[in-house]
Amino acid sequence: MFAAVTPVPPDAILGLSLAYAADTRSDKIDLGVGVYRTIEGETPVMAAVKKAEAFVIDHQNSKRYTPPEGAPGFTDNILKLVFGDADVLQSGRAAAVQAPGGCGALRLAADLLNRFGARTISTGAPTWANHKPLMGAAGFDIQMLPYYDAASSSIDFDAYVEAVKKLGPSDVLLIHNCCHNPTGADLSTDQIDILAQMAKEQGFFPLIDAAYHGFAQDLEKDAYMIRAFADRVPEVLVTYSCSKNFGLYRERVGALIVVSDTAERALAIKSHALNIARANYSMPPAHGGAVVSEILGSPELSKMWRDELAAMSGEVRGNRQKLVAEAEKAGLGNRLSYITNQHGMFSLLPLNEEEVVKMRVDHGVYIVGGGRINMCGVNHTNVERLVAAFKAVTQS
Ligand code: LMR
Repeated sequence: MFAAVTPVPPDAILGLSLAYAADTRSDKIDLGVGVYRTIEGETPVMAAVKKAEAFVIDHQNSKRYTPPEGAPGFTDNILKLVFGDADVLQSGRAAAVQAPGGCGALRLAADLLNRFGARTISTGAPTWANHKPLMGAAGFDIQMLPYYDAASSSIDFDAYVEAVKKLGPSDVLLIHNCCHNPTGADLSTDQIDILAQMAKEQGFFPLIDAAYHGFAQDLEKDAYMIRAFADRVPEVLVTYSCSKNFGLYRERVGALIVVSDTAERALAIKSHALNIARANYSMPPAHGGAVVSEILGSPELSKMWRDELAAMSGEVRGNRQKLVAEAEKAGLGNRLSYITNQHGMFSLLPLNEEEVVKMRVDHGVYIVGGGRINMCGVNHTNVERLVAAFKAVTQS
């Protein structure tokens, strides 16, 4: 069977973490995988998570299977977090299933769309490095539409809209909710409104990837896109991740949220999602879902978590300012100033592939292909070296 097997190349993002770990240079800088980091380079367990975990473990008296839709209370709490008191929730048009992380939710969504005859999935370029392989494994050849204009370091909305105009009822548009990965260039609320109206008129299917809820501005503002689409179009799928906002990366906890025009249809779609999950991994892991449910169900833990999340996202905004200020100080003028207009963990440095390699090999700065940097890894201890390395590789 495997006589002719050869290894696949390392993953674009996870492979970089392995290479970073193997690098013995003490002044190396990790701007790779999208995890929050303190100045010491640590990714601590959030205090609210620690408390919730202690409660969950203490009250756990069995390891029997969890219900297929996930930990008790998880989906109700996530739906409340995402929709607040929006009508879509009151009317029962929204339903959810817990999934093994954002990736698991995306795969469920793709299988569901495949089952019901979606023809294409399109998204703005560039996109998260795993979108293509993930959708490819579900049978979709993801189509790239113009989105980010590298020359102006901003969204080319006119070009994007022109491309989206060509989508019809059997097409899916995959949209990043906020904290666009890899560019950090998010759609404005006006642009979201235009897109939602186009979805309504043209009938293309919106698939919203929400992996960074609360990391751009705050939990309310970051829910704008999901609520705007759910208000205006009959059907939406949202793939939700708790990896970043709850810091639960390795616990693999996320959700597939289904919005339909009637409560009855939402439940029918949910039953298909559960059926697909059963044929694949049966049910999601219990621990992370129970922890999230415990946090969101407790006013005290919920406040603690919200405060911690706000502090993390505030810190990342501060890191953006540090980088831009350092670039100005180093004589780069406003070359990197666009970075403070962007949101979330990522932005692109204007680097070609050869320069990305030079940053890593010559300067120990680990950057994802395409120039993506994780802003969490930028801090006052390394920003000078980072800018110096950028200057050296771009001006040599
Ligand atoms: C990232 O983009 O770095 C994260 O979402 C981690 C991953 O799985 O790629």
